[in-house]
Amino acid sequence: MQSLRGKPRGMLSHLLLLLTSPSSPIILTTSTSRPNPQNPTLLLRSSSPLSPPPASPLPLPRASLLGAPPHLRSRRSFSSAAAMADEPVSYISQKDAAEIDEALMGPLGFSVDQLMELAGLSVAAAIAEVYKLSEYSRVLAICGPGNNGGDGLVAARHLYHFGYKPFISYPKRTSKPLYSGLVTQLESLSIPFLSVEDLPQNLSDDFDIIVDAMFGFSFHGTPRPPFDDLIQRLVALKAFDNAPKKSPPIVSVDIPSGWHVEEGDINGEGIKPEMLVSLTAPKLCAKKFAGPHHFLGGRFVPPAIIDKYGLRLPPYPGTSMCVRIGKPPSVDIASLRENYTSPELLEDQVMADPVDQFQIWFDEAVSTGLREPNAMALSTSGKDGKPSSRMVLLKGVDKQGFIWYTNYESRKARELSENPHASLLFYWNHLNRQVRIEGSVEKVSDEESERYFHSRPRGSQLGAAVSKQSAVLAGRHAIHQAYKELEERYSDGKVIPKPDYWGGYRLTPRCFEFWQGQPSRLHDRLQYVLREVNGSQVWQIERKEQLQLQTIYFSSL
Ligand SMILES: Cc1cc2nc3c(=O)[nH]c(=O)nc-3n(C[C@H](O)[C@H](O)[C@H](O)COP(=O)(O)O)c2cc1C
Repeated sequence: MQSLRGKPRGMLSHLLLLLTSPSSPIILTTSTSRPNPQNPTLLLRSSSPLSPPPASPLPLPRASLLGAPPHLRSRRSFSSAAAMADEPVSYISQKDAAEIDEALMGPLGFSVDQLMELAGLSVAAAIAEVYKLSEYSRVLAICGPGNNGGDGLVAARHLYHFGYKPFISYPKRTSKPLYSGLVTQLESLSIPFLSVEDLPQNLSDDFDIIVDAMFGFSFHGTPRPPFDDLIQRLVALKAFDNAPKKSPPIVSVDIPSGWHVEEGDINGEGIKPEMLVSLTAPKLCAKKFAGPHHFLGGRFVPPAIIDKYGLRLPPYPGTSMCVRIGKPPSVDIASLRENYTSPELLEDQVMADPVDQFQIWFDEAVSTGLREPNAMALSTSGKDGKPSSRMVLLKGVDKQGFIWYTNYESRKARELSENPHASLLFYWNHLNRQVRIEGSVEKVSDEESERYFHSRPRGSQLGAAVSKQSAVLAGRHAIHQAYKELEERYSDGKVIPKPDYWGGYRLTPRCFEFWQGQPSRLHDRLQYVLREVNGSQVWQIERKEQLQLQTIYFSSL
């Protein structure tokens, strides 16, 4: 039988995947081959002449695709899931991994190409999350002959598109169209393929990251040439570790090659990857992984698999293709450092009016897809002169000023009533840009606040109506209770009146500073100051140098 991603089909004969036609619903039964009543194994089969059709012609709920009816499911026990009952994340056995792959590519309708593409993309995404392009660009992907190697080839292609410079070592090519297609794709990107003989003995000199995609979860036995030698070269990397040059981190795809899939690095002499990207679900050997970066990839596991195997997997954040498992390593704060590269910010290229310049930068921040580009830090201080800062959202900007809305009984409101001078600060990380704005603040008109209040979603209107900002709360439940009561009161859709204590402020600017991060801390800083010239107020642009002292100080950060 044809080999699927993990194992030959023949090895999984206990799993009855008799999906006869797309229209035949899959139902579950218990195995006759594993009769242990304490451990009823749930198997798949199609409705066939031997099995009566399900009573209901309606589509089955999702769990029934792979899971059992609840009364059966609740008592079932799977090796890996049961073993990990107290673990926050499930680790699966080799057998379960093979079964899951079999099911994905059987009744769940995936193809091997799809799973490989998603797996490779996950690996590339995890690498990009940890190893910044500015420090790590040259990636060597060592690819084995099977699916794990295919994942590595796909990851290399995605890394190329992310801006990395991949190299491939693929000593045992397969002629199957899937793999030759992947090779063609990489060759068309001019990604170099290096023979084992071409690889330097000390991989540290030529590469910044090494992707170990030699063997996956279906591997048994001892690695054969040339992979035995390649594994030894990865093991030996640490021996070349002489300060200040650190050996390149090894990123293992699903299983560190040479490790036992369930027992891990049995004699302790195997590869010690810095990053492991588990695919679908971590295999049992991943419990022995001691590196700082364990990620999960393969964001394709459907609920039917999760239910059947009782998997506990961390949720993927947002649209990410990978998620970190466990705590991120603690970092040395002093070592956190970014080198900015940005276009120059020159006096003759900026707008004469700072509000126009702000608008250009703001639009660019919006177009980068930054979350909440309108978030700004507002700093105020009352009559005691003690400053306080908090984030607020910019809700309008024009030549008159910058508007935000808040509670007029809050701390910021009290401080503004005592001292109208305030500053705003925007930081657009992706663009290496910061804008400082200073000026005086006054309330917007009641009509303006009213108009904005009623343009907000009803939930936000109710929130403003119950919130006593900056006041000490009796408890979280108190505000939730008040919200619920108000929600009921206005459930008929009638207008929610704007509370008197809620409204907007406008900061009229007198000074701007546009900051553009540049390499070696030689940042561009352009200041706009409002000056009186011939009786009228005009904006003047001045270049602010990063003070020598600051330059030295920041370069050492
Ligand atoms: C991203 C972000 C946006 C916020 N936007 C607003 C806002 O527009 N108005 C507001 O009153 N509070 C906003 N807050 C909450 C404030 O930061 C702050 O907690 C609250 O206004 C009370 O501040 P105060 O006690 O210093 O007056 C925001 C918080 C964050 C993190």
